[in-house]
Amino acid sequence: MILLDGKKTSNDIKDEIAVKVQELKAAGKKTPHLAAVIVGNNGASLTYVNAKVKACERVGFDSTLIKLPETITEEELLSKIEELNKSTEVDGFIVQLPLPAHIDEHKVTLAISPYKDVDGFHPENLGRMVLDLPTFLPATPYGIVQLLDRYDIETSGKNCVVIGRSHIVGSPMSILMSRNNKVGNCTVTLTHSRTKNLKDITKEADIIIVALGKAEFLTADMVKDGVVVVDVGITRVDDPSKKSGFRLLGDVKFDEVAPKCSHITPVPGGVGPMTIASLMMNTLQAIENRN
Ligand code: GUN
Repeated sequence: MILLDGKKTSNDIKDEIAVKVQELKAAGKKTPHLAAVIVGNNGASLTYVNAKVKACERVGFDSTLIKLPETITEEELLSKIEELNKSTEVDGFIVQLPLPAHIDEHKVTLAISPYKDVDGFHPENLGRMVLDLPTFLPATPYGIVQLLDRYDIETSGKNCVVIGRSHIVGSPMSILMSRNNKVGNCTVTLTHSRTKNLKDITKEADIIIVALGKAEFLTADMVKDGVVVVDVGITRVDDPSKKSGFRLLGDVKFDEVAPKCSHITPVPGGVGPMTIASLMMNTLQAIENRN
């Protein structure tokens, strides 16, 4: 069994980006600038956004973290987004999800300029992805594709089962795995809460991508020997023995599934860091598009 080491791979990617940023700076070009907007005090979201800002520092990007109160109105948030759309300083930005219930996420996503939408969530960018046109790929699916690519995992003609149909992971992932690409050309089955006989389907899978946010959902009896498993889950569970008071669990029962796998991502240190590396790649792409 080989661990798909997202931490190391994301560090490799960030090192490559850092070299390109140095080249831009040496040529007197603008430093790439990512802004991140966070609304409220969701602990997990704050952790992710802080990690994104830290990654900017590492690769040499400028970054701005915009913290807005939970009580902000939709109108005020939309006006902040318009400001970022117009900014000549900011090359790309993200609005961390989820947002408070009184704010319409679709409205927010639609308000972000597709040219600065480094999360790849705008319908125009998702449409471009479906059509195989140049675009910003959504960061988590893009990170998974990068990880499979850098570990030379053969995907062509394989049965790939995606568990979970979220707009930001499962659904775009299913499209990327079926595209005619080096990582792609799979026969994809997208499964969800209404899927019948899930175990019969997962047992036939050569590649399983689990993104439903249910801790330790995928168990050893659901997979065949030699499967490649990508675990997107990150559920916090109380653990008084940890300084933080919690530990992270994936969607895969790692200890029992891993021995059956040819490759598997750990949690933490698998998909999470790759998401951040992809965001850095998209931000570099945003400034190259502007140039
Ligand atoms: N919440 C969970 N994942 C993501 C992501 O990739 N981008 C944003 N903006 N919010 C998220």
